[in-house]
This record gives sequence, C-alpha cells and structure tokens, in this order.
Amino acid sequence: PWLYPERKNSTGVNMNVQSQWNELSAVYSSFLGRQWQAAPVIGGRHLEGTAHDVRCPYARSRVVGRAQFASAEQARQALGALEAAWPLWNATAVDTRAGILERLGDLLEQHRAELMALCTLEAGKSLQDGIDEVREAVDFCRYYAHQARLKLGREVLVGPTGERNELFHEGRGVFVCISPWNFPLAIYLGQITAALVAGNTVLAKPAEQTGLIAARALELMFEAGLPPDVIALLPGEGAELGRVLCRDRRVAGVCLTGSTDTARLINLQLAEREGAIPVLIAETGGQNAMIVDSTALPEQVVKDALSSAFTSTGQRCSALRVLYVQRDVAGRVIELLKGAMAELKIGPTHLRESDIGPVIDEEAQRELLSHIERLKAQGRLIAEARLPEGLDGTFVAPVAFEIGGIHELEKEHFGPVLHVVRYDAADLEKVVDAINATGFGLTLGVHSRNEETARRIEARARVGNLYVNRNQIGAVVGVQPFGGCGLSGTGPKAGGPGYLLRFANERTTSVNT
Ligand code: SER
Repeated sequence: PWLYPERKNSTGVNMNVQSQWNELSAVYSSFLGRQWQAAPVIGGRHLEGTAHDVRCPYARSRVVGRAQFASAEQARQALGALEAAWPLWNATAVDTRAGILERLGDLLEQHRAELMALCTLEAGKSLQDGIDEVREAVDFCRYYAHQARLKLGREVLVGPTGERNELFHEGRGVFVCISPWNFPLAIYLGQITAALVAGNTVLAKPAEQTGLIAARALELMFEAGLPPDVIALLPGEGAELGRVLCRDRRVAGVCLTGSTDTARLINLQLAEREGAIPVLIAETGGQNAMIVDSTALPEQVVKDALSSAFTSTGQRCSALRVLYVQRDVAGRVIELLKGAMAELKIGPTHLRESDIGPVIDEEAQRELLSHIERLKAQGRLIAEARLPEGLDGTFVAPVAFEIGGIHELEKEHFGPVLHVVRYDAADLEKVVDAINATGFGLTLGVHSRNEETARRIEARARVGNLYVNRNQIGAVVGVQPFGGCGLSGTGPKAGGPGYLLRFANERTTSVNT
C-alpha cells in the first residue's frame, strides 16, 4: 500500500508494515479464525451480562466473538468495590505501580499479533494501523511509568518559613475512563494506565463496539500484576451506564475521549450530582484543516493530505477534513489529488494490500453516505476512490469535494471525506479566523516553504497540535503530546509531561521542626 510511508517511532523502530510483515504474518494469520469473549469484570470476577454478537466491520456476516453488556446495577456494584480498594492502592508505592505498567508494555509486545488481529477483526483497522496501535499502547505504558517516577514523588520545598515543606501527589479516588472505538487499545490503555499509576482505582467503560479488545487487554493487565480489585470493566452502551456513573457521588473524576456532545452531557451530569466537585478530562472532536500556500511542494501536499484524511478510513480525531489551497496552485494540487485517489486500494483489512478499510458500523456508514450524497447532488465532487464489487462490510469510498469554506460544514463528518477550498493569498488571515470560528481546536496542518507564513499561522491559530510540512496524524507519545482546546477538549495532552498531574491531587505538608 502506498498510503503508508517508511516511518520511525520514538525509539527509532521502523513502524512500516512492509518491514515487519515477514516476522508477523504467520502468527497473525493464526488468530484470524479465533473467537473472543467480553463480560463485565468486578474484583477480577467475570459476571453475566446481556450477550451481543460482535461482527467484523469488513465482513458483517462474520461473528468474531460475544460481548456481554453490563447493567446499571453492576455499575453501582463496581463503584462500591473500587471505592473500597482505593486507599490501599493509593498508598502503594509509585514505583510498584509504575513497574506494573512496564510489565504490561512488555506483555503487549509479546501478544502483538493477537492484538493486531483483534484490531482488524473487531475495529476494522488496517494492518499498519494495528502495528501503530499496539506500539502506541506500549509507548503509553512505558512513558507514564517513567513520568510517574519523575513527577509523583515527594518534593521538599525550601523557603523562608523555617519549616519542612513537602509537596506530593496522590490519586483522586475512583476514575471512570470512557474510551472510543477508533483507538480501542491505545486510548483505552492510555487513559487507564495514567489513572492507575497516579493512584486512582479505575472503572473502564470501553466503546460498545470494541469490548473484546478491552477484555483481552484487561487479562494482560492482571497478568502484569495489577491487583484485581483496583479495576472494573463494564462493556456496554454508553448512555445508560454513563447516566448512572456520572450521577454517582463515589466518582472522583471522568476521563473521556469521545464526542463534544458526550462531554457536554457528562459535564452536566457531574455538575448536577451531590458531593465533591469531580474533574473532567475530555478529548473530543475536531474540524481539522490544512493550509497550503503557493510555495509548497504539490506532490508532498497531496501525499500528506491523503494520509491525513484517509488513514484509518478518516476515523481519527486528528484527521484532515478541510484542505485550504491557495488559488494559484489549487489546479495542480487537485489534479494530483485525483490521480492519487484513483490508486487507493479499499478492501478487507486483514489483507496486506488494503490501504483503506471499512468504517466502524452501519450507523457511521449511513451518516457519511448521506453527507456524501448531499454534496454530490450539489455538483461538488472532485474525486472518489473506486469501491471494489462484492464487499460485505461497512465500506465508504474515500471522496473529495470542493466547497466554499469550512463554515459550510455544520459538524464533524468522522470518515474518509475530504473538503477542498480555494483561497486568495491576501485572505490568509481570514482563512485562519474561519478555522478558529468553528470553535474546534485540535490539529492544523501547514504546507509552506516560507517560515514566516508558518509562524504567522501558528500565532493566530487556536489549536492543540500544529504540523508543518508533514501529515497531521499519528502523534508520537512523549514527543508530540496530543490534545486540543475549545470544542476539542478540556486541554489535556495525552502522552505529554503534564498528563498524569490531571489525575492526581496535589498535597502540601508543612512540619514545624
Ligand atoms: N492521537 C491520534 C493521532 O495523532 C488521534 O487520536 O492521530
């Protein structure tokens, strides 16, 4: 597949599927016929729930396992157990907690092929995405372990008071971690490991579409030495469980990666409940743009725009939605874009040659197809990738349209739809203002060989992650802390040096010696 360039991760390992396939393929293939199970887990015990078949997004007739959804009563039970377990876990040495994360990182690597198979079968991810996903999960475990040792110890503060003053951190209590289906391993574990290592007990609520991966990762957490009573898993639908959890005074904090609407609802529910004021750590959506001026290299622009818009079938919150191209070079960029899109290969994602897999489910497919039909009816089509005949999955062919501006998009369309806008050089600042005016602030791409232009855009744009002369996805843990502002979230940076502190209470003790 040409969508994925050679690319190294933070530790210098080449992350391209081609260079790792010989080693991986046999063991990966051995998992393709496997069935997995998920069930509510409280205190290490598996409970009964309402059973649902889990279907593969690229072959809907194929059942890959059964997930038992948790009940509201089980959610209350889990909170009681986690509250009881919290004091001991909070008193456990940071070093011990960090050691568990490191062992989990090692286990994830050992089970990489199985986890990749789960990513392709349950979430419809491509093989390259599967490799990246496991790598990111491992990076989170190791990075947060390192950060915990660095940041969460006791610090003596020397000052004029003549006393011994110490600053230290502890967990807040029970944290509810609500994770999305688009990074069913990396974000799921990123949230959980951060909350745990900071001294919280965790109620994990994975997306209803990806309970199997969550359950398998939980087994590995226990294997890594995590005490069974410090985590509970509740597979199931968000609305009902969320309502119970966010209204319960035993919850000290919620960590959400999901939609802006969900974040608002959770905020409201947390505000209305009685008891202490809980913390909300939210990473939500985006309406991400890329700005291309006439000094940019058109070939590089097209390569980076396509990988930003269509990797993971456009189902990344970082993904490019609106490509702003200076009018002087727009014709050339669009011509190259058409040619490149004709070469994209859509297909079942367990196959190495597939660039683009399905979207997650029928609901997502319906929403995207209705947006696509509307823009087609308005005569705005630039190019559409070829959808092969006979696919039995929730596929949406990557498509590009020309529109008048980002303001025309009433919401985020979470899939492989790229919108292109032509602008005049004199309007550059208006373009940035229009992007800011959406209220979202997650990623922004810039393609310009004029450093001054990039600096001007940087100063004016309200975004969490700005990428210059490259694609705008795939933030690397520890070096590209990731997260946005405004409608895109409350500002935490996953994989950044400040992240763990959001999960902790800071305490000061002053002793008159
Ligand atoms: N962290 C992912 C990326 O950078 C998005 O969630 O693409």
